[in-house]
Amino acid sequence: MWLQMIILWLVLRVQISIEARCFAVARTYSIGRSMEGRELLVVEFSDNPGKHDLLEPETKFVGNVHGNEVLSRQLLIHLAQFLCTEYLRGNQRIQTLINTTRIHILPSVNPDRYEVIGSFNLGTNNAQNIDLNRNFPDLTSIVYRRHRQKGHRTDHIPIPDSYWFGKVAPETYAVMEWIRSVPFVLSASFCSGDLLVSYPYDLSKHPQGNDTFSPTPDQKVFKFLAGTYANAHQKYKL
Ligand SMILES: *[C@@H]1O[C@H](CO)[C@@H](O)[C@H](O)[C@H]1NC(C)=O
Ligand SMILES: *[C@@H]1O[C@H](CO)[C@@H](O)[C@H](O)[C@H]1NC(C)=O
Repeated sequence: MWLQMIILWLVLRVQISIEARCFAVARTYSIGRSMEGRELLVVEFSDNPGKHDLLEPETKFVGNVHGNEVLSRQLLIHLAQFLCTEYLRGNQRIQTLINTTRIHILPSVNPDRYEVIGSFNLGTNNAQNIDLNRNFPDLTSIVYRRHRQKGHRTDHIPIPDSYWFGKVAPETYAVMEWIRSVPFVLSASFCSGDLLVSYPYDLSKHPQGNDTFSPTPDQKVFKFLAGTYANAHQKYKL
């Protein structure tokens, strides 16, 4: 209990102190609350925090999707500290990144489960036992279906009504609202426990499955981005 309180205090302190230390380029904000009411806190880096600058790409990084996968959360907190420290030190590469893009970091989208993993292992899901990693609408299957029925658009697919009849976690909803309010062009969501990069459309076209290769028109871009991440690591293989 005490250990968890100290960790929580440290996490909050880190976020507050990043904002305080890097006030010219960093801001902390909340995108909503978890099932048990914890703030979903984002640290944002930009030369104009809080505003979308025309033509500046918006990026987001989300961690701790599974409550017990704490490495992803730690990595993103360290990334935020790194960006702040290096900006202040005058690192040209980091300054250019912050001056020309907007970076949003949500270290924990599943803080409820993170809070209890110290005392007993409750696994990956949120407080309602929903796997946040599987709780977003599955638009990929709709795209595949429309491909088969030629003549249907696949570039703009509304969320089907049936999705809302299912259980949508408050954390999932907060992230969906966030995506709607900021025009993100690049995102990554971090888990931990494996050396694997999966990119959009990683579902097989054939429901029963196997490892059917299902490329999309953006295959080259997706593979390039995933490769850039994986190849920077000694042990990843693409
Ligand atoms: C980034 O922007 C700040 C504030 O305008 C400026 O002082 C700094 O020199 C810029 N850094 C780079 C590498 O362009
Ligand atoms: C899955 O792969 C196995 C072995 O390669 C094959 O025998 C089977 O027919 C495949 N199933 C489907 C649905 O493609």
